[in-house]
Amino acid sequence: MLSQKLLDAINDQINFEIHSALIYKAMQAHFEAEDLPGMANWMDVQFQEEMSHAEKMFHFVCEAGGRVKMLAMDEPKNEYSSPLDAFETALSHEQIVTGRINNLMDLAQQERNHAAQIFLQWFVTEQIEEEASVGYIIAQLKRVEGDGRGLIMIDQELSKRTFVPIAAE
Ligand code: FEO
Repeated sequence: MLSQKLLDAINDQINFEIHSALIYKAMQAHFEAEDLPGMANWMDVQFQEEMSHAEKMFHFVCEAGGRVKMLAMDEPKNEYSSPLDAFETALSHEQIVTGRINNLMDLAQQERNHAAQIFLQWFVTEQIEEEASVGYIIAQLKRVEGDGRGLIMIDQELSKRTFVPIAAE
């Protein structure tokens, strides 16, 4: 059903999604230490989302008869100079993810693999939301320019985010 080349590329992305989760878990730890629990919560939800992305791909590869392999991961960045620094780093990371998902879709199209294209379409759409949600927070952070009261209001807003499992969306 899937070529070895496509299986390997998706396997690579499974590992990248888990690496993404690690990055957001490190950001959560940073915000916990900075006493910004709402931003820590937002990052924890992001961590769970990335793990669910990896899970979704994991099961797709297994169902297609492929063999998932876990690879070594780079240490994530653990310190950030400001909330804006962390969220701008998150946006840059999501832009990399978007490029990788688009490359996967290109490969599925080149191989005329319709099942893989339908599967990957979910991730193409998801990346629009991923970039938009981080971009919105960056705009809010720029607006308050590090003002303490503004940061607390943003933190309270971000404390409301909850994880929604993919199957329940
Ligand atoms: Fe799994 Fe944030 O992309």
